[in-house]
Amino acid sequence: MVIRPASASVAKTGAAGMHQRRDPNTLANYNEWMTTDTTADFTIDFDAKRLKGTVHLTLENLAKDSRQIILDTSFLEVSSVRANDETAEYQLAASRVEPYGTPLTISLPAKTEPSKSNVTLSIDVATTKDCTALQWLTPAQTSNKKHPYIFSQCQAIHARSLFPCQDTPDVKSTFTFNIRSPLPVLASGLPTGPKDFQPGEDGKSGTLLYTFHQSIPMPSYLFALASGDIASASIGPRSTVWTGPEELTASQWEFEKDTEAYIQAAEKIVYPYAWTTYNVLVLPPSFPYGGMENPVYTFATPTVVSGDRQNVDVIAHELSHSWSGNLVSNASWEHFWLNEGWTEYLERRIIAAVHGSDQYRDFSAIIGWKALEDSIAQFGEDHNFTKLIPDLKGKDPDDAFSSVPYEKGFVFLYHFEKLLGTEKWDKFIPHYFTTFKQKSVDSYEFKATLLDFFANDVDAAKKLQNVDWDTWFYAPGFPPKPDFDTTLADQCYALADKWQALAENHKESDFKPSAKDIESWTANQSVVFLERLQSLPHHPITPDLINLMGSSYGYESSKNVELVSRFYTLGLMSRAESVYKPTAELLGKVGRMKFVRPLYRQLIMRDRKLAERTFEENRGFYHPICRGMVEKLFEKHA
Ligand code: BES
Ligand code: ZN
Repeated sequence: MVIRPASASVAKTGAAGMHQRRDPNTLANYNEWMTTDTTADFTIDFDAKRLKGTVHLTLENLAKDSRQIILDTSFLEVSSVRANDETAEYQLAASRVEPYGTPLTISLPAKTEPSKSNVTLSIDVATTKDCTALQWLTPAQTSNKKHPYIFSQCQAIHARSLFPCQDTPDVKSTFTFNIRSPLPVLASGLPTGPKDFQPGEDGKSGTLLYTFHQSIPMPSYLFALASGDIASASIGPRSTVWTGPEELTASQWEFEKDTEAYIQAAEKIVYPYAWTTYNVLVLPPSFPYGGMENPVYTFATPTVVSGDRQNVDVIAHELSHSWSGNLVSNASWEHFWLNEGWTEYLERRIIAAVHGSDQYRDFSAIIGWKALEDSIAQFGEDHNFTKLIPDLKGKDPDDAFSSVPYEKGFVFLYHFEKLLGTEKWDKFIPHYFTTFKQKSVDSYEFKATLLDFFANDVDAAKKLQNVDWDTWFYAPGFPPKPDFDTTLADQCYALADKWQALAENHKESDFKPSAKDIESWTANQSVVFLERLQSLPHHPITPDLINLMGSSYGYESSKNVELVSRFYTLGLMSRAESVYKPTAELLGKVGRMKFVRPLYRQLIMRDRKLAERTFEENRGFYHPICRGMVEKLFEKHA
């Protein structure tokens, strides 16, 4: 049975012109007030590990009688609030509303004219040690060990732990960043103006003011900044890579071949790139994600710099968000598939276009389907979080995070392409991204726009009528599996079959593994091979075979973490003790959750002591979100 939540079909704007609050993960009254501009004046204090300054929010009044503005905050210190330069009364709620934080209620001073449609709030604010959006690294935690480093990660609902805001993707604002720091700063806007120097006191180094402006309205979760010992190099006519000075050449080599080709491929599928320049910041290894699509500067894990250009698909992905997510944003995290499903879809179209063949995108989709299987297995087939549109009321969107929105979303869009034919579907893509450009969108608007676009095409309209929307939107578990082109995957399966035969029937198998088996393969083909062996029933692979595999294929010494992490996972599943210590070492070098999670999960089961020791040793290295995730794993497997 399919149950539709009550809010399912409500339009964005109600009868009174008041906006519906379609995002359940914010405490802000954004149906009454809407932020249109945000200016953040911050000083980065590396010694105190805090960000301190003033944030100015300009809000538009949507409900004329409203005299209260409620903003999201989380672990913030607020010391004063002014409204149009008059002192305003404000109150931070006495206790947190988990998992959403502490609402800040601001009462407009009597003098503030109620008829005025705009108000500008100026809020003096500082972050605290509990801030979930920032990671502060000591010099010892950086690669050249010379300077401290700070970076932010606001998606999904961590912007509220940097400054009071309407922390919902349903509100879009322009942004000005005025950030003072002793070290170079990047933020998610275009650099502007001169850098004003201020000498330091008591022999401390001075600071420069780094300024950026984002003139395209964007949601709070795309607010981003980083500061540290970083340098830059060109990776294309409108692209620059930033990273630690020692890593610069390697990063440049990794991206310079593909970045511009990807941008041009995407522009052909959708329309011209809107954000002027597309740059990549390669972060320290504790960055918890593969990539984060912060406008102008994609933030990326250093594991994409694998020295073989085999992980640049992450760049195709983050670049695609420039359209899906950043220009057209999911209206709430319940509609996250509109961000990530569309982005997977565009990423794979780019890969196909650049390679000139659909084989490559289907190969990527096969890897994605396996990730979907893993996520559904983790949650259970009936779980709310396996729905394309999960119910997130009262929930933390970080807890719902999985491959489901990515891969179920991708399969949904792939289904439309096959149903309507590529030619017709390709006309809809720019239409959709034009219709919702600079807006936020939910699944019902997506549906209505698609139906409307093909309303006069009898054949297409008939096909769309047969789409079972409610099942796609609300049924948990698997969608129908598309018929992917398996050409590139077949070789991986064939080799996996040989290893299986060797494991199950050692005496009769005449298979002699050698480096030749995978000579012509991409790293991702090895990933598919290894994942196939991970999912064999009864796990027939023995420790001896793991050692043989490692030495024959050189997996042990690969610098490609996608590959090595899969090899270690298989080794742990096979109880091959030879991989336990290398796993622990890897867990001290890489903080990307995609790798950290499965490796801890296996290590806890095989050698809990070693897992605990590894975690204690690296607690400070992990990002707060990653640390919390690993703590939950230990509890779950207690
Ligand atoms: N926007 C996501 C990362 C994210 C999602 C951060 C939700 C916080 C909350 C980013 O675009 C992403 O999907 N990254 C992937 C890379 C990929 C699929 C190539 C990742 O980090 O693995
Ligand atoms: Zn993404």
